[in-house]
Amino acid sequence: MRYIGNKENLLDKIHQVMQSKNIQGNSFFDFFSGTVNVGKFFKKLSYQVFSSDLLYFSYVLQRAYITNNQELHFEKIRNKLRFETSILFASPLQIVVDYLNQIEPKEGFIFQNYTPSGNRMFYSAENGKIIDAIRQQIEDWKAENLISENEYFVLLACLIETVPFYANISGVYAAFQKKWDARAIKKMILRPVEFVVNNKENFAFNKNSVELLDKIEADIFYLDPPYNQRQYAPNYHLLETIAKYDNPEIKGVAGLRNYENEKSKFCNAVTALQELSVIAEKGKYKTLILSYNNEGIMPQEQIISTLKHFGKVELIEFDYTRFKSNSNGESKYKKTIKEQLYILQR
Ligand SMILES: C[S@@+](CC[C@H](N)C(=O)[O-])C[C@H]1O[C@@H](n2cnc3c(N)ncnc32)[C@H](O)[C@@H]1O
Repeated sequence: MRYIGNKENLLDKIHQVMQSKNIQGNSFFDFFSGTVNVGKFFKKLSYQVFSSDLLYFSYVLQRAYITNNQELHFEKIRNKLRFETSILFASPLQIVVDYLNQIEPKEGFIFQNYTPSGNRMFYSAENGKIIDAIRQQIEDWKAENLISENEYFVLLACLIETVPFYANISGVYAAFQKKWDARAIKKMILRPVEFVVNNKENFAFNKNSVELLDKIEADIFYLDPPYNQRQYAPNYHLLETIAKYDNPEIKGVAGLRNYENEKSKFCNAVTALQELSVIAEKGKYKTLILSYNNEGIMPQEQIISTLKHFGKVELIEFDYTRFKSNSNGESKYKKTIKEQLYILQR
């Protein structure tokens, strides 16, 4: 998924650095989970994973990839509906996804507010109705006890992972584009997610992770906080609303929901350093790894002096090429920044 600060392309690099510094352990806390790519990667490496994020859509993904620990069979719903499929050797999840791809579209909250019907162009009218129909069907199956809790979150994760491919935006949901992008006018087709299985008990939370410090003990704490003033909640509000489907009051041109409870203290230099200090002091870890970059709002010297109080600190930097939009978001240019890993050993 396109997400600000997504570490998908840096996972191997982070792992290499850990190996070269002989950072070992059995448990891993993905403190700012976002797309869950980091937690998934370390779960596949057989770590016991703890994972948390302020945003509910991330929690949906965490429940599907981190907490759920088996391939699911959707027996109740498949027996009841006697789904047919033309695909040879289709997995049970693929069969359910195929069924959801052919249900009758519905005019619900997304259609009414985020398509031309609500004077917004985040989704085409057709895709808005498809999103509503699939989202409502998943909720109805849960209410009728036809799917388990794990099956519910896996199906929601399929929807959350699919909708960004059809969004008429240039990156985030703070604004829609004034002309239709080619991908937004294609008919939406729901995609199945992968099952990630290891032999550990793994945990997911939808919390301010700082509030979990007295509850979670893990060998490695991995911190990948926001690095500038932009709050995540307004930039990904539509994923939040599709995940919660709670008919929120919305405001403004972009139809933002209230995000008072989802604001991060890491979006302000002073409070970010204070939070970092609390985590480094109170956290129960052997190694703390902070991902940051040279454009972040916490200055390098202050990060190091904060962490130094609690153990040995090392800074590793590498070049990373990003694609950035110009100021009016019309063209993209390459920019090399320094990606940083601060390593604190107790
Ligand atoms: C840079 S992103 C993480 C990206 C993630 N590592 C990935 O690869 O997708 C930062 C995340 O931290 C979350 N966040 C910010 N402050 C938080 C807090 N105090 N507790 C939990 N999550 C927080 C944001 O919602 C956002 O998803």
